[in-house]
Amino acid sequence: MNEVLENILTRRSVRAFKEDQIKDGELELILKAGIYAPSGMNKQSWQFTVVQNKEKIELLAKVVREALGRDAGYNFYAPPTLIILSNDKDNTNGLADCACALENIFLMANSLKIGSCWINQLKTICDEEEVRKVLNSFDIPENHIVWGIAAIGYTANVPAVHERKAGVVKFVK
Ligand SMILES: Cc1cc2nc3c(=O)[nH]c(=O)nc-3n(C[C@H](O)[C@H](O)[C@H](O)COP(=O)(O)O)c2cc1C
Repeated sequence: MNEVLENILTRRSVRAFKEDQIKDGELELILKAGIYAPSGMNKQSWQFTVVQNKEKIELLAKVVREALGRDAGYNFYAPPTLIILSNDKDNTNGLADCACALENIFLMANSLKIGSCWINQLKTICDEEEVRKVLNSFDIPENHIVWGIAAIGYTANVPAVHERKAGVVKFVK
């Protein structure tokens, strides 16, 4: 099979991670794949914030839990690495640009046999006081929205494939 398609077909949203950290060389490749994503008008106004500190990941999860009223178990699946994708509020392509970067990150991770999952909860609560305080402490610019987070780590449990819906492709000839 074509190796790009094989990589796409074998990627899964992984929600259980081993505790050991991914290697720096692997992280470097994953970030490179992210920053080579396309961006509208080539603005590249995004920031990729890598968090590899258990307490800091838990702190972010805690303020998100409190802002959204989530239960105590909500912890982004406790990955060893987060890559936070944020973008300038005034960039109307901010979400699309971050989504392209996230998919590149997921696919690069999968090609290295590293699991990943999109964490979506930040985008509406970035300006809640306690959330913004933590984002500030991570040096995420005040004018940025966090559009998505990649939870990254070695896979502890491979999820089943979600079959794709039929009938979503239409041809006009
Ligand atoms: C925009 C977007 C937001 C998502 N948010 C979350 C999330 O917050 N938590 C989560 O566990 N998965 C999240 N996912 C993963 C989806 O649930 C997952 O892609 C879908 O169930 C299909 O499974 P697959 O990725 O294994 O093919 C998100 C995916 C996308 C594209």
